[in-house]
Amino acid sequence: MTNPLEQRIAPELEQFIRDGTYKRLNFLDSPQAARVQMEDRGEVIILSSNNYLGLANEPSVVAAGKEALDRFGAGTASVRFICGTFTIHRALEAACARLVGTPASLSFGSAWNANEAVPGTLLTENDLIISDQLNHASIIDGIRLAKAITKCQTAVYQHGDLTDLDARLTAARDRRVKMVVTDGVFSMEGAIAKLPELIELCRKHEAVLVVDDSHATGVLGKNGRGTAEHFGVIGEVDIITSTLGKALGGAAGGFAAGSAAVCDYLTQRARPQLFSNALPPTVAASSLASIEYLEAHPERVAMLRDNARYFRDQLLGLGFRPLPGETPIIPVILGETAAAIRMSDLLLAEGVFVTGFGYPVVPQGQARVRCQISATHTRDDLDQALAAFQKIGRQLRLI
Ligand SMILES: Cc1ncc(COP(=O)(O)O)c(C=O)c1O
Repeated sequence: MTNPLEQRIAPELEQFIRDGTYKRLNFLDSPQAARVQMEDRGEVIILSSNNYLGLANEPSVVAAGKEALDRFGAGTASVRFICGTFTIHRALEAACARLVGTPASLSFGSAWNANEAVPGTLLTENDLIISDQLNHASIIDGIRLAKAITKCQTAVYQHGDLTDLDARLTAARDRRVKMVVTDGVFSMEGAIAKLPELIELCRKHEAVLVVDDSHATGVLGKNGRGTAEHFGVIGEVDIITSTLGKALGGAAGGFAAGSAAVCDYLTQRARPQLFSNALPPTVAASSLASIEYLEAHPERVAMLRDNARYFRDQLLGLGFRPLPGETPIIPVILGETAAAIRMSDLLLAEGVFVTGFGYPVVPQGQARVRCQISATHTRDDLDQALAAFQKIGRQLRLI
């Protein structure tokens, strides 16, 4: 006898398979890199990872994790405020703040947790949070939670539409704290937020600006310091959240960076921090080593930018129409979810791993394959991937 839950989800899972939207996990048996060993497939070129700088398997990053394992042991066995704070956490937080250009930062188990912590901890029922329509799921869920916990007002502005945001901020004159939140780089589009205009608008309305730089940290700006460096406005964003699970070593973890008071308040009150274990010391150490590597090797960021430009130009040359942009996120829109998943499957059969994304991750009818380029892809890797795109593109009559 199955219970009502099992009775409900079993046919839904079968429907996912019939709809062509079922996600099959691919198991890797080697470190994350430009080329990996995929179980049952052998060597595959990865165009689908957030390992933008190729630091996930960088020797100094791996060595730092191993040394921390020997020095601190496997984990913290506690939350931060009880006895789970190690000296490596302090060093990491100083480095995160230095990198993004804020006075302080606070680490979390994930950027998801950081995005959950910021609105739910800092807002009250007198306040308002306004979110870009295309913000990441962690921001959306963080806002839903904040609304339930604090009874703050919530609103969404049209993607990148500053006129809409201006109108909503004007209408919210009575709110004590107004918080505007945006992705720095939108993960499904690769678009960059209009940061200088957002800063100006937030100043005009005395609103607090929060930027989730998860896809911009290590990626944008000459030194990889993020969206603020890209626009020359370091130090002008109130709160920056970001991940340690992408360009900065790719392990896991995230942080919120801002003023000393904001970080202190989060330390005192943020529930994902008060009631969940701290980052393992191995992860804190390898993330710190990643930041130090980035600071010493800004040429990695230039390599990333060159590779992204090359791949985008070549795709255009083949007749594909990727979404325009200048980040290493290069999406090719295909329409229906099943079409994106089919293209992804066919590319994988050619030894190129590119994930297909469909509804509800992206809007209905805008399913896509999303290419993500790394600094450590060689021209050979990119050319081989492009040859696969050409073959499958012709087979599916896309080009
Ligand atoms: C924009 C953005 N914010 C936050 C996250 C969550 O990061 P983490 O894996 O550290 O929870 C992601 C990850 O997909 C992301 O793309």
